[in-house]
Amino acid sequence: MKKLLAFVLCLAMVFSFAACGGEKDPAASEAPKAVLKMATNAYFQPYEYYEGDKIIGIDAEIAAAIADKLGMELKIEDMEFDSIITAVQEGSVDFGMAGMTVREDRLEKVDFTTSYANGKQVVIVKENSAITDVEDLFADGATWKAGVQLGTTGDIYATGDLGEDRVTQYNNANNAVLALIAGDVDCVVIDNEPAKALVNANEGLKILEATYADEDYAICVKKGNTDLLNKINAAIDALVEDGTIDTIIAKYIK
Ligand code: ARG
Repeated sequence: MKKLLAFVLCLAMVFSFAACGGEKDPAASEAPKAVLKMATNAYFQPYEYYEGDKIIGIDAEIAAAIADKLGMELKIEDMEFDSIITAVQEGSVDFGMAGMTVREDRLEKVDFTTSYANGKQVVIVKENSAITDVEDLFADGATWKAGVQLGTTGDIYATGDLGEDRVTQYNNANNAVLALIAGDVDCVVIDNEPAKALVNANEGLKILEATYADEDYAICVKKGNTDLLNKINAAIDALVEDGTIDTIIAKYIK
C-alpha cells in the first residue's frame, strides 16, 4: 500500500514537472527583472529629453544598454538637476546620469564611473551681441550678466568668475535661453551640445567660438556602492569595445 502511494506520488510529481516545463506562458515563466533606477534632468537635448512622454537621448540609450547588460529593467526618473546627487546619496535611485561632469567636489558626495563622453562649456549670446569672445565676460569693469542652469558646472564657473550678482540661476537651460531672448541676461553658459540644440530651436542666437571649459561626463552612484560601480564600469567597457556607445552618440550628434 505504501509503495503504491509512493508510486502515485512520484507519478504526480513527474506529471506536474512535465506540465510546468511544457507550458508555454512566457509572462509566467520569465522572472520579473530587477529595476535599475536612474535619475536625470530631461531638458538637456541630445543627452536626455522628451519625445512625447518618453525620455530619449544619448544618456537614456546608453543607460538602457547598461541595464540590459546587467539583466535589469531601466526606470528613468526626471527631476531637477540640482536634486540628482542628493537622490543618489539617499538611495531613492541607483544612479544619476545627466551629462554630468566629473568634479572633485562632487566626488566627495558620490562615486563616478569611467567617463563615457566629453563635454565642454560654451557661451550662447544673441546674434548681434556686443560680447564677441568669452574673454569679454571677464574684462575689467565688465557688467555682462549670465544665465545658467542651477547647480551645473556652467553655474559654478560663471558664479566663480563673474560673481553671484552677475549670474542668474534657472531651473533648466530652456528657461535660461528664454531669459536671454527676453534680455534679462546677456549670455547663457551651458554645455556645447545642448547649446547647439537650443540655438537651432530659437532664432537670433549663436554660440561663441571659444570654449569656456572642457569636461568629462560620467555616471554617479552612491558613495561606496562598489558593486554597482564595478558592474556599470564593466558594462561601459564592453559597450565602448563593441562600438555601441559610439553608435549611440553618432545617432544624436551629427
Ligand atoms: N555638465 C553640466 C554639469 O555636470 C551640466 C549637466 C546638466 N544636465 C542636465 N541633464 N540638465 O553640471
